[in-house]
Amino acid sequence: MAVESLIPATERKEATERRKTTGFRPVVSFEEETNPWLAQEARFDFAAKKLNLDEGMWKVLRLPTRELIVHIPVGMDDGRIEVFTGYRVQHSISRGPCKGGVRYAPDVSLDEVRALASWMTWKCAVVNIPFGGAKGGIICDPHSMSQGELERMTRRYTAELMEFIGPEKDVPAPDAGTNEQTMAWMMDTYSMHQRQTVTSVVTGKPVNLGGSRGRTEATGRGIQMVCDHALRHLGMEIKDCRVIVQGFGNVGSNAARLLHEKGYRIIGIAEFDGGLYNPAGIDIDALLRHKAEVGTIAGFAGAEPADSAELLTRECEILIPAATENVITSRNAADLKCRILCEGANGPTTMVADDILAGKNIFVLPDILANAGGVTVSYFEWVQDRMGYFWNEAEVNRRLDLIMTESFHDVISYAQTHNVNNRIAAYMLAIDRVAYTARQRGMYA
Ligand SMILES: NC(=O)c1ccc[n+]([C@@H]2O[C@H](COP(=O)([O-])OP(=O)(O)OC[C@H]3O[C@@H](n4cnc5c(N)ncnc54)[C@H](O)[C@@H]3O)[C@@H](O)[C@H]2O)c1
Repeated sequence: MAVESLIPATERKEATERRKTTGFRPVVSFEEETNPWLAQEARFDFAAKKLNLDEGMWKVLRLPTRELIVHIPVGMDDGRIEVFTGYRVQHSISRGPCKGGVRYAPDVSLDEVRALASWMTWKCAVVNIPFGGAKGGIICDPHSMSQGELERMTRRYTAELMEFIGPEKDVPAPDAGTNEQTMAWMMDTYSMHQRQTVTSVVTGKPVNLGGSRGRTEATGRGIQMVCDHALRHLGMEIKDCRVIVQGFGNVGSNAARLLHEKGYRIIGIAEFDGGLYNPAGIDIDALLRHKAEVGTIAGFAGAEPADSAELLTRECEILIPAATENVITSRNAADLKCRILCEGANGPTTMVADDILAGKNIFVLPDILANAGGVTVSYFEWVQDRMGYFWNEAEVNRRLDLIMTESFHDVISYAQTHNVNNRIAAYMLAIDRVAYTARQRGMYA
Protein backbone atom coordinates (compact mmCIF):
# COMPACT_ATOMS: atom_id res chain seq x y z
CA MET A 1 0.00 0.00 0.00
CA ALA A 2 1.32 3.46 -0.83
CA VAL A 3 2.45 5.28 2.29
CA GLU A 4 0.93 8.57 1.22
CA SER A 5 -2.59 7.14 1.44
CA LEU A 6 -2.12 6.69 5.18
CA ILE A 7 -1.47 10.39 5.78
CA PRO A 8 -4.33 12.90 6.09
CA ALA A 9 -4.82 14.93 2.92
CA THR A 10 -3.57 18.30 4.24
CA GLU A 11 -0.44 16.81 5.78
CA ARG A 12 0.07 14.78 2.63
CA LYS A 13 0.04 17.84 0.43
CA GLU A 14 2.51 19.70 2.62
CA ALA A 15 4.78 16.72 3.02
CA THR A 16 4.76 16.07 -0.71
CA GLU A 17 5.63 19.70 -1.38
CA ARG A 18 8.40 19.56 1.21
CA ARG A 19 9.85 16.41 -0.28
CA LYS A 20 9.80 17.99 -3.74
CA THR A 21 11.66 21.05 -2.53
CA THR A 22 13.98 19.40 -0.05
CA GLY A 23 15.12 16.45 -2.09
CA PHE A 24 13.95 13.60 0.17
CA ARG A 25 13.68 10.42 -1.87
CA PRO A 26 9.99 9.68 -2.56
CA VAL A 27 8.80 6.91 -0.26
CA VAL A 28 6.71 4.30 -1.96
CA SER A 29 6.03 1.62 0.61
CA PHE A 30 5.80 1.19 4.35
CA GLU A 31 8.60 -1.36 4.11
CA GLU A 32 10.87 1.25 2.57
CA GLU A 33 9.77 3.88 5.08
CA THR A 34 10.74 1.60 7.98
CA ASN A 35 14.06 0.38 6.59
CA PRO A 36 16.56 1.97 9.04
CA TRP A 37 19.37 2.12 6.49
CA LEU A 38 17.21 4.03 3.97
CA ALA A 39 16.04 6.31 6.79
CA GLN A 40 19.63 7.11 7.73
CA GLU A 41 20.62 7.54 4.08
CA ALA A 42 17.77 9.96 3.33
CA ARG A 43 18.66 12.24 6.26
CA PHE A 44 22.36 12.00 5.37
CA ASP A 45 21.72 12.92 1.73
CA PHE A 46 19.52 15.83 2.68
CA ALA A 47 21.97 17.23 5.26
CA ALA A 48 24.94 16.71 2.91
CA LYS A 49 23.11 18.64 0.19
CA LYS A 50 22.37 21.49 2.60
CA LEU A 51 26.07 21.56 3.52
CA ASN A 52 27.12 21.57 -0.14
CA LEU A 53 29.27 18.57 0.63
CA ASP A 54 31.40 17.76 -2.39
CA GLU A 55 30.45 14.62 -4.28
CA GLY A 56 33.64 12.71 -3.42
CA MET A 57 33.29 13.20 0.32
CA TRP A 58 29.57 12.40 0.04
CA LYS A 59 30.51 9.04 -1.52
CA VAL A 60 33.07 8.36 1.21
CA LEU A 61 30.81 9.14 4.16
CA ARG A 62 27.56 7.59 3.04
CA LEU A 63 28.83 3.99 3.06
CA PRO A 64 30.40 2.02 5.94
CA THR A 65 34.14 1.33 5.79
CA ARG A 66 33.80 -2.36 6.62
CA GLU A 67 30.96 -4.89 7.05
CA LEU A 68 31.66 -8.27 8.62
CA ILE A 69 29.30 -11.25 8.67
CA VAL A 70 30.20 -14.14 10.97
CA HIS A 71 28.51 -17.50 11.50
CA ILE A 72 28.89 -18.59 15.08
CA PRO A 73 28.64 -22.25 16.06
CA VAL A 74 27.42 -22.75 19.63
CA GLY A 75 27.03 -25.96 21.63
CA MET A 76 23.54 -25.70 23.14
CA ASP A 77 22.59 -27.07 26.57
CA ASP A 78 20.64 -29.96 25.06
CA GLY A 79 23.67 -31.20 23.11
CA ARG A 80 22.66 -29.74 19.72
CA ILE A 81 24.96 -27.44 17.74
CA GLU A 82 23.30 -24.20 16.62
CA VAL A 83 24.83 -21.68 14.20
CA PHE A 84 23.99 -17.99 14.77
CA THR A 85 24.62 -15.19 12.28
CA GLY A 86 26.35 -12.10 13.61
CA TYR A 87 27.47 -8.77 12.19
CA ARG A 88 29.92 -6.01 12.93
CA VAL A 89 29.78 -2.90 10.78
CA GLN A 90 32.43 -0.20 11.08
CA HIS A 91 31.20 2.99 9.50
CA SER A 92 34.02 5.49 9.99
CA ILE A 93 37.46 5.74 11.57
CA SER A 94 38.09 9.37 10.57
CA ARG A 95 37.82 10.84 14.08
CA GLY A 96 39.20 7.89 16.06
CA PRO A 97 38.50 4.22 16.82
CA CYS A 98 35.04 2.91 16.00
CA LYS A 99 32.56 2.80 18.85
CA GLY A 100 29.18 1.13 19.09
CA GLY A 101 26.97 -1.38 20.82
CA VAL A 102 26.19 -5.03 20.23
CA ARG A 103 22.53 -6.03 19.93
CA TYR A 104 21.07 -9.51 20.46
CA ALA A 105 17.58 -9.83 18.96
CA PRO A 106 15.67 -12.07 16.54
CA ASP A 107 15.11 -9.26 14.02
CA VAL A 108 18.71 -8.02 13.75
CA SER A 109 19.62 -7.46 10.08
CA LEU A 110 22.59 -6.12 8.16
CA ASP A 111 20.63 -3.01 7.12
CA GLU A 112 19.74 -2.30 10.76
CA VAL A 113 23.34 -2.76 11.94
CA ARG A 114 24.58 -0.56 9.08
CA ALA A 115 22.16 2.20 10.02
CA LEU A 116 23.05 1.95 13.70
CA ALA A 117 26.78 2.09 12.84
CA SER A 118 26.30 5.27 10.78
CA TRP A 119 24.18 6.85 13.51
CA MET A 120 27.06 6.16 15.92
CA THR A 121 29.44 8.11 13.66
CA TRP A 122 27.09 11.08 13.60
CA LYS A 123 26.29 10.81 17.33
CA CYS A 124 29.97 10.76 18.37
CA ALA A 125 30.57 13.80 16.16
CA VAL A 126 27.55 15.69 17.57
CA VAL A 127 28.94 15.33 21.11
CA ASN A 128 32.45 15.88 19.72
CA ILE A 129 34.15 12.80 21.18
CA PRO A 130 37.06 11.17 19.32
CA PHE A 131 35.35 8.09 17.90
CA GLY A 132 33.86 6.90 14.64
CA GLY A 133 30.78 4.71 14.53
CA ALA A 134 30.30 0.95 14.58
CA LYS A 135 27.59 -1.48 15.58
CA GLY A 136 27.26 -5.22 16.01
CA GLY A 137 24.50 -7.70 16.41
CA ILE A 138 23.61 -11.37 16.48
CA ILE A 139 20.31 -12.83 15.22
CA CYS A 140 19.12 -14.74 18.29
CA ASP A 141 16.49 -14.64 21.01
CA PRO A 142 18.55 -13.91 24.16
CA HIS A 143 15.50 -14.37 26.40
CA SER A 144 15.15 -18.02 25.39
CA MET A 145 18.85 -18.84 25.85
CA SER A 146 20.58 -19.97 29.05
CA GLN A 147 23.46 -17.99 30.56
CA GLY A 148 25.83 -20.75 29.43
CA GLU A 149 24.59 -20.55 25.82
CA LEU A 150 24.82 -16.76 25.83
CA GLU A 151 28.36 -16.91 27.24
CA ARG A 152 29.54 -19.42 24.60
CA MET A 153 27.92 -17.41 21.78
CA THR A 154 29.44 -14.15 23.04
CA ARG A 155 32.92 -15.62 23.41
CA ARG A 156 32.90 -17.19 19.93
CA TYR A 157 31.56 -13.96 18.38
CA THR A 158 34.37 -12.03 20.12
CA ALA A 159 36.95 -14.55 18.90
CA GLU A 160 35.67 -14.14 15.31
CA LEU A 161 36.14 -10.37 15.60
CA MET A 162 39.59 -10.61 17.24
CA GLU A 163 41.59 -8.78 14.53
CA PHE A 164 38.92 -6.14 14.05
CA ILE A 165 38.25 -4.91 17.59
CA GLY A 166 40.60 -3.37 20.16
CA PRO A 167 41.01 -0.18 22.21
CA GLU A 168 42.55 1.64 19.23
CA LYS A 169 40.39 -0.05 16.57
CA ASP A 170 36.79 -0.65 17.56
CA VAL A 171 35.30 -0.61 21.06
CA PRO A 172 31.97 -2.47 21.51
CA ALA A 173 29.38 -1.71 24.22
CA PRO A 174 25.99 -3.09 25.29
CA ASP A 175 22.77 -2.39 23.39
CA ALA A 176 19.32 -3.99 23.46
CA GLY A 177 19.56 -7.64 24.56
CA THR A 178 23.10 -7.34 25.94
CA ASN A 179 24.36 -6.02 29.27
CA GLU A 180 27.41 -5.58 31.49
CA GLN A 181 27.81 -9.37 31.84
CA THR A 182 28.06 -9.65 28.03
CA MET A 183 30.79 -6.98 28.09
CA ALA A 184 32.65 -8.82 30.88
CA TRP A 185 32.72 -11.98 28.69
CA MET A 186 33.88 -9.99 25.64
CA MET A 187 36.62 -8.29 27.65
CA ASP A 188 37.79 -11.59 29.14
CA THR A 189 37.83 -13.39 25.76
CA TYR A 190 39.80 -10.57 24.11
CA SER A 191 42.19 -10.43 27.08
CA MET A 192 42.84 -14.20 26.97
CA HIS A 193 43.89 -13.90 23.32
CA GLN A 194 46.11 -10.89 24.06
CA ARG A 195 47.65 -12.67 27.09
CA GLN A 196 46.97 -9.64 29.25
CA THR A 197 43.94 -7.87 30.69
CA VAL A 198 42.70 -5.20 28.28
CA THR A 199 39.77 -3.49 29.98
CA SER A 200 39.47 -0.70 27.40
CA VAL A 201 38.43 -3.08 24.58
CA VAL A 202 34.76 -2.68 25.55
CA THR A 203 32.70 -0.22 27.60
CA GLY A 204 29.60 -0.73 29.72
CA LYS A 205 31.47 -3.25 31.90
CA PRO A 206 30.75 -3.87 35.59
CA VAL A 207 32.40 -1.14 37.71
CA ASN A 208 34.76 -3.60 39.43
CA LEU A 209 36.06 -4.73 35.98
CA GLY A 210 36.96 -1.24 34.79
CA GLY A 211 33.45 0.07 34.14
CA SER A 212 32.65 3.71 34.76
CA ARG A 213 30.47 4.94 37.55
CA GLY A 214 27.33 6.49 36.10
CA ARG A 215 27.44 4.47 32.83
CA THR A 216 24.28 2.42 33.49
CA GLU A 217 22.09 5.49 33.86
CA ALA A 218 24.09 7.74 31.48
CA THR A 219 21.70 7.57 28.51
CA GLY A 220 18.72 8.34 30.75
CA ARG A 221 20.65 11.13 32.44
CA GLY A 222 21.55 12.67 29.08
CA ILE A 223 17.87 12.59 28.14
CA GLN A 224 16.96 14.38 31.36
CA MET A 225 19.63 17.01 30.64
CA VAL A 226 18.45 17.75 27.08
CA CYS A 227 14.81 17.87 28.25
CA ASP A 228 15.82 20.50 30.83
CA HIS A 229 17.51 22.54 28.09
CA ALA A 230 14.57 22.16 25.69
CA LEU A 231 12.16 23.47 28.34
CA ARG A 232 14.36 26.48 29.01
CA HIS A 233 14.68 27.10 25.27
CA LEU A 234 10.91 26.92 24.75
CA GLY A 235 10.03 28.89 27.90
CA MET A 236 8.29 25.94 29.56
CA GLU A 237 8.34 24.90 33.25
CA ILE A 238 9.21 21.49 34.70
CA LYS A 239 6.25 21.61 37.08
CA ASP A 240 3.81 21.83 34.13
CA CYS A 241 5.48 19.07 32.21
CA ARG A 242 3.70 15.73 31.63
CA VAL A 243 5.85 12.95 30.20
CA ILE A 244 5.03 9.66 28.46
CA VAL A 245 7.82 7.10 28.03
CA GLN A 246 7.82 4.10 25.70
CA GLY A 247 10.11 1.29 26.90
CA PHE A 248 10.98 0.70 30.53
CA GLY A 249 14.37 -0.91 29.95
CA ASN A 250 17.75 0.67 30.62
CA VAL A 251 17.12 3.94 28.77
CA GLY A 252 13.41 4.42 29.48
CA SER A 253 13.44 3.50 33.16
CA ASN A 254 16.48 5.64 33.97
CA ALA A 255 15.11 8.60 32.02
CA ALA A 256 11.75 8.23 33.79
CA ARG A 257 13.40 7.94 37.22
CA LEU A 258 15.68 10.95 36.76
CA LEU A 259 12.93 13.14 35.26
CA HIS A 260 10.58 12.09 38.08
CA GLU A 261 13.27 13.05 40.64
CA LYS A 262 13.50 16.52 39.05
CA GLY A 263 9.76 17.14 39.31
CA TYR A 264 8.49 16.14 35.86
CA ARG A 265 5.16 14.27 36.02
CA ILE A 266 5.47 10.85 34.34
CA ILE A 267 1.88 10.12 33.34
CA GLY A 268 2.37 7.15 31.01
CA ILE A 269 4.69 4.19 30.46
CA ALA A 270 4.26 1.98 27.37
CA GLU A 271 5.80 -1.51 27.33
CA PHE A 272 5.64 -4.58 25.13
CA ASP A 273 3.01 -6.27 27.27
CA GLY A 274 0.80 -3.25 27.96
CA GLY A 275 0.97 0.28 29.26
CA LEU A 276 0.24 2.30 32.39
CA TYR A 277 -1.48 5.66 32.70
CA ASN A 278 -2.00 7.96 35.67
CA PRO A 279 -2.72 11.65 34.96
CA ALA A 280 -1.68 12.51 38.53
CA GLY A 281 1.78 11.04 37.93
CA ILE A 282 3.30 7.57 38.34
CA ASP A 283 5.61 6.89 41.31
CA ILE A 284 8.61 5.65 39.31
CA ASP A 285 10.56 4.31 42.30
CA ALA A 286 7.54 2.19 43.28
CA LEU A 287 7.20 1.02 39.66
CA LEU A 288 10.88 0.03 39.56
CA ARG A 289 10.41 -2.03 42.76
CA HIS A 290 7.30 -3.66 41.23
CA LYS A 291 9.18 -4.54 38.01
CA ALA A 292 12.14 -5.94 40.00
CA GLU A 293 9.73 -8.16 41.96
CA VAL A 294 7.48 -9.48 39.18
CA GLY A 295 9.55 -8.89 36.02
CA THR A 296 7.00 -6.67 34.23
CA ILE A 297 5.28 -3.32 34.68
CA ALA A 298 1.89 -5.03 34.24
CA GLY A 299 -0.24 -5.26 37.37
CA PHE A 300 1.22 -2.11 38.98
CA ALA A 301 -1.36 -0.74 41.40
CA GLY A 302 -0.33 2.93 41.10
CA ALA A 303 -1.73 3.46 37.58
CA GLU A 304 -4.51 2.23 35.33
CA PRO A 305 -3.75 -0.20 32.48
CA ALA A 306 -3.57 1.43 29.03
CA ASP A 307 -3.03 0.38 25.46
CA SER A 308 0.66 0.86 24.62
CA ALA A 309 0.21 2.09 21.04
CA GLU A 310 -2.55 4.48 22.03
CA LEU A 311 -0.44 5.93 24.88
CA LEU A 312 1.95 7.44 22.33
CA THR A 313 -0.87 9.62 21.03
CA ARG A 314 -2.16 10.92 24.38
CA GLU A 315 -1.70 14.55 25.31
CA CYS A 316 1.60 15.33 27.08
CA GLU A 317 4.40 17.88 26.95
CA ILE A 318 7.20 15.35 26.31
CA LEU A 319 7.00 11.99 24.55
CA ILE A 320 10.09 9.79 24.93
CA PRO A 321 10.25 6.74 22.66
CA ALA A 322 12.96 4.66 24.38
CA ALA A 323 12.30 1.16 23.08
CA THR A 324 13.15 0.51 19.45
CA GLU A 325 13.11 1.76 15.83
CA ASN A 326 10.13 2.83 13.70
CA VAL A 327 7.52 3.50 16.36
CA ILE A 328 6.56 6.93 15.00
CA THR A 329 5.63 6.50 11.37
CA SER A 330 3.23 7.75 8.71
CA ARG A 331 0.60 5.66 10.50
CA ASN A 332 0.56 7.53 13.83
CA ALA A 333 2.63 10.74 13.55
CA ALA A 334 -0.40 12.88 12.72
CA ASP A 335 -2.04 11.74 15.99
CA LEU A 336 0.82 12.76 18.31
CA LYS A 337 -0.14 15.41 20.86
CA CYS A 338 3.20 16.15 22.51
CA ARG A 339 5.07 19.45 22.35
CA ILE A 340 8.53 17.84 22.51
CA LEU A 341 9.60 14.49 21.05
CA CYS A 342 12.77 13.34 22.81
CA GLU A 343 14.25 10.28 21.09
CA GLY A 344 15.74 7.90 23.64
CA ALA A 345 15.83 4.98 21.17
CA ASN A 346 17.86 4.98 17.97
CA GLY A 347 15.77 5.64 14.86
CA PRO A 348 12.30 5.71 16.49
CA THR A 349 10.93 8.18 13.90
CA THR A 350 10.72 7.54 10.17
CA MET A 351 11.56 10.19 7.60
CA VAL A 352 7.91 10.44 6.49
CA ALA A 353 6.92 11.02 10.12
CA ASP A 354 9.56 13.78 10.34
CA ASP A 355 7.65 15.82 7.78
CA ILE A 356 4.37 15.31 9.60
CA LEU A 357 5.89 16.32 12.95
CA ALA A 358 7.35 19.46 11.36
CA GLY A 359 3.88 20.37 10.13
CA LYS A 360 2.60 19.99 13.71
CA ASN A 361 5.40 22.17 15.12
CA ILE A 362 6.66 19.42 17.43
CA PHE A 363 10.12 20.22 18.80
CA VAL A 364 12.25 17.14 18.10
CA LEU A 365 15.31 16.25 20.17
CA PRO A 366 16.85 13.82 17.64
CA ASP A 367 18.34 10.50 18.71
CA ILE A 368 21.91 11.41 17.74
CA LEU A 369 21.73 14.21 20.32
CA ALA A 370 19.16 13.03 22.88
CA ASN A 371 20.55 9.56 23.59
CA ALA A 372 24.24 10.49 23.27
CA GLY A 373 24.77 10.47 27.05
CA GLY A 374 25.46 6.73 26.86
CA VAL A 375 28.31 6.90 24.38
CA THR A 376 29.68 9.99 26.13
CA VAL A 377 30.10 8.11 29.41
CA SER A 378 31.42 5.12 27.42
CA TYR A 379 34.08 7.52 26.18
CA PHE A 380 34.80 8.45 29.83
CA GLU A 381 35.07 4.73 30.64
CA TRP A 382 37.59 4.18 27.82
CA VAL A 383 39.60 7.21 29.05
CA GLN A 384 39.55 6.02 32.68
CA ASP A 385 40.58 2.47 31.68
CA ARG A 386 43.52 3.78 29.68
CA MET A 387 44.60 6.07 32.57
CA GLY A 388 43.97 3.41 35.21
CA TYR A 389 42.44 6.18 37.30
CA PHE A 390 38.73 6.25 38.07
CA TRP A 391 36.44 9.21 38.74
CA ASN A 392 33.64 9.38 41.26
CA GLU A 393 30.05 9.55 39.99
CA ALA A 394 29.72 13.29 40.61
CA GLU A 395 32.73 13.90 38.37
CA VAL A 396 31.31 11.68 35.61
CA ASN A 397 27.95 13.49 35.77
CA ARG A 398 29.60 16.92 35.84
CA ARG A 399 31.56 16.15 32.68
CA LEU A 400 28.48 14.62 31.03
CA ASP A 401 26.52 17.78 31.78
CA LEU A 402 29.21 19.94 30.14
CA ILE A 403 29.11 17.87 26.94
CA MET A 404 25.31 17.53 26.71
CA THR A 405 24.85 21.27 27.34
CA GLU A 406 27.36 22.28 24.68
CA SER A 407 25.95 19.76 22.16
CA PHE A 408 22.36 20.93 22.71
CA HIS A 409 23.36 24.53 22.04
CA ASP A 410 25.51 23.55 19.02
CA VAL A 411 22.54 21.76 17.43
CA ILE A 412 20.07 24.55 18.18
CA SER A 413 22.34 27.26 16.81
CA TYR A 414 23.03 25.16 13.68
CA ALA A 415 19.27 24.79 13.18
CA GLN A 416 18.76 28.54 13.55
CA THR A 417 21.70 29.51 11.34
CA HIS A 418 20.78 27.11 8.52
CA ASN A 419 17.01 27.31 8.95
CA VAL A 420 16.58 23.54 9.22
CA ASN A 421 14.93 21.30 11.81
CA ASN A 422 16.90 19.94 14.77
CA ARG A 423 17.48 16.51 13.22
CA ILE A 424 18.94 17.88 10.01
CA ALA A 425 20.96 20.39 12.06
CA ALA A 426 22.46 17.55 14.10
CA TYR A 427 23.33 15.63 10.92
CA MET A 428 24.84 18.74 9.32
CA LEU A 429 26.95 19.49 12.39
CA ALA A 430 28.14 15.88 12.51
CA ILE A 431 28.84 15.51 8.79
CA ASP A 432 30.74 18.81 8.80
CA ARG A 433 32.96 17.63 11.67
CA VAL A 434 33.62 14.18 10.16
CA ALA A 435 34.25 15.58 6.65
CA TYR A 436 36.67 18.16 8.05
CA THR A 437 38.77 15.45 9.73
CA ALA A 438 38.55 13.12 6.73
CA ARG A 439 39.89 15.89 4.48
CA GLN A 440 42.69 16.68 6.94
CA ARG A 441 43.74 13.03 7.02
CA GLY A 442 43.51 12.74 3.22
CA MET A 443 42.92 9.60 1.19
CA TYR A 444 45.43 6.78 1.63
CA ALA A 445 46.53 5.21 -1.65
N1 LIG B 1 21.52 1.38 26.56
C1 LIG B 1 22.07 2.49 26.12
O1 LIG B 1 22.98 3.05 26.73
C2 LIG B 1 21.57 3.12 24.84
C3 LIG B 1 22.23 4.27 24.38
C4 LIG B 1 21.73 4.93 23.26
C5 LIG B 1 20.62 4.41 22.61
N2 LIG B 1 20.02 3.27 23.06
C6 LIG B 1 18.84 2.81 22.34
O2 LIG B 1 17.72 2.88 23.19
C7 LIG B 1 16.78 1.85 22.87
C8 LIG B 1 16.50 1.01 24.10
O3 LIG B 1 17.74 0.49 24.58
P1 LIG B 1 17.86 -0.16 26.05
O4 LIG B 1 19.31 -0.32 26.29
O5 LIG B 1 17.03 0.60 27.01
O6 LIG B 1 17.22 -1.59 25.77
P2 LIG B 1 16.46 -2.51 26.84
O7 LIG B 1 16.40 -3.85 26.19
O8 LIG B 1 17.09 -2.37 28.19
O9 LIG B 1 15.01 -1.85 26.96
C9 LIG B 1 14.10 -1.78 25.91
C10 LIG B 1 12.71 -1.86 26.54
O10 LIG B 1 11.75 -1.53 25.54
C11 LIG B 1 10.71 -2.49 25.57
N3 LIG B 1 10.17 -2.58 24.21
C12 LIG B 1 10.76 -3.10 23.10
N4 LIG B 1 9.96 -2.94 22.04
C13 LIG B 1 8.86 -2.30 22.48
C14 LIG B 1 7.68 -1.84 21.84
N5 LIG B 1 7.49 -2.02 20.53
N6 LIG B 1 6.75 -1.21 22.59
C15 LIG B 1 6.93 -1.01 23.92
N7 LIG B 1 8.05 -1.43 24.58
C16 LIG B 1 8.99 -2.07 23.86
C17 LIG B 1 11.35 -3.78 26.04
O11 LIG B 1 10.39 -4.64 26.63
C18 LIG B 1 12.37 -3.24 27.06
O12 LIG B 1 11.84 -3.12 28.36
C19 LIG B 1 17.41 1.10 21.68
O13 LIG B 1 16.97 1.73 20.50
C20 LIG B 1 18.89 1.38 21.86
O14 LIG B 1 19.63 1.25 20.64
C21 LIG B 1 20.48 2.61 24.17
